[in-house]
Amino acid sequence: MMRRITVAMSVALVVFVASIAVGQDKKMSLEEYAALMKSNAQANGALNKAIGSGAYADARTQVGVLRKNLASLRPFWAERKRDDAVAILQTGETRLASLDALLGQATVPQADAQAAAKEFAGAVCAACHKQNREGDNQTGFKFKEGVF
Ligand code: HEC
Repeated sequence: MMRRITVAMSVALVVFVASIAVGQDKKMSLEEYAALMKSNAQANGALNKAIGSGAYADARTQVGVLRKNLASLRPFWAERKRDDAVAILQTGETRLASLDALLGQATVPQADAQAAAKEFAGAVCAACHKQNREGDNQTGFKFKEGVF
């Protein structure tokens, strides 16, 4: 009896572990990557607009989208052993967490929040693009040669 339960439990464990492995194996395609960047641009624009008009709850929603996006970019760069990009993503998470705290205050310091949003875009979006992206609005954007 005990033995049977143990076997059943090990089978369940193997299935569970296998499903985790499959989940991690699902790599982000280049199309998914570009779609995520478009979501970044959308959320970043909406964030600045919301702060500008004092819609702080909306601004926090956009911060949430950006945090989620940055978190899902992490494995993409980590598995290519690009520590510099991973560090930029970590900076992004830190900056977004403190921006979120600013936006959650009873009286939001609007100018500080605007400055923090601007600095975030410079230190994170622009910094990574400078290192890893080429192209422009006309020709389209792609990864710099040799990035991976
Ligand atoms: C860790 C690196 C990294 C970070 C952080 C990053 N990007 Fe990107 N981004 C790239 C690379 C590389 C490309 C080029 C590949 C592509 O276009 O898919 C790109 C492309 C883009 C594009 C063009 C998408 C297309 O193909 O049309 C936009 C828009 C964009 N990023 C916006 C943003 C914004 C806004 C942020 C910050 C909220 C951001 N990105 C953060 C690396 C990054």
